[in-house]
Amino acid sequence: MKGFDISNSNEFSKVPKDLFYFITNCPLQDLGFLDQLKNDQYLVSCNSVYYFKIISQKNIPFVLRLKQNEKSHFGLNFSEVREIKNELRSHSSFSGFHFHHGGEANTSETYLSAIRKLKSLITELGIEKPLSLNLGGGFSHLSLKEIDEVFSYAGQELKGHKIVIEPGRYFTEETGQCFAEVSDIQNDGEGLIVNLNVSRECHLKWSRINQIKILKDTDSVNRFTGKSMRVYGNTCYEDDLIAVIHHPHKEEIAVGDTVVLSNISGYSLGWNTGFNGIPQIKIEFK
Ligand SMILES: Cc1ncc(COP(=O)(O)O)c(C=O)c1O
Repeated sequence: MKGFDISNSNEFSKVPKDLFYFITNCPLQDLGFLDQLKNDQYLVSCNSVYYFKIISQKNIPFVLRLKQNEKSHFGLNFSEVREIKNELRSHSSFSGFHFHHGGEANTSETYLSAIRKLKSLITELGIEKPLSLNLGGGFSHLSLKEIDEVFSYAGQELKGHKIVIEPGRYFTEETGQCFAEVSDIQNDGEGLIVNLNVSRECHLKWSRINQIKILKDTDSVNRFTGKSMRVYGNTCYEDDLIAVIHHPHKEEIAVGDTVVLSNISGYSLGWNTGFNGIPQIKIEFK
């Protein structure tokens, strides 16, 4: 790991210093923190032609962000890049391209096809200098074999250029656990509806919770079993659904039990907001 993908000065203030920073989606008005960095310590990703026009007048090393699809509001589409190709070719601070395919549906083909398009764009623009090509994040659904395939392909098709990635969830997805207490249970015939004293909306957004383990610490005789479990949070929001677990366990669950939820991603740390007056979760690093 060489550094961080940073979106604003506040985020910059929270990460270790003296690394490399890839600055994505940062408001132009908030770029003042670049004064603290040397020119070879960062790249600013331009999100629009307008952004590019401003950045290219300053002494700031930059890349262009390419749209992941026509509907995305992040980045330039290929025709916009073509329109500024002469400025790009002659600009000494132009350093490459960036894309990020977010969301849940990435496969190795997502990257292979993006690499093919990138290669054809670079060839078409007639850019010969080595570029920094940032393939973004979104790797969490790919196996190691598929990631290897993506890198081999990138190495082969984009030879001579520097390949950068900025994975987030891939490293943090499985790191967290959440301890919670069961506050109510219904059996609606389909399975159990279990309410916890934590919430997706307040504490667990962007986690894909796939397991609930019961630490039986109550001696309640009113215990429930079911072939599925819909686990809800404690806000007033109807869709505060934390997880749906099929064939959860052979054990029985009771109000007052402490449970452990697995697969709490690093993103949930940032979403631990305390919406709806519900207290934030206490976080411990171990
Ligand atoms: C520009 C950019 N790069 C990388 C990431 C990391 O994505 P992931 O956690 O899916 O790897 C994000 C996440 O929002 C992002 O916006």
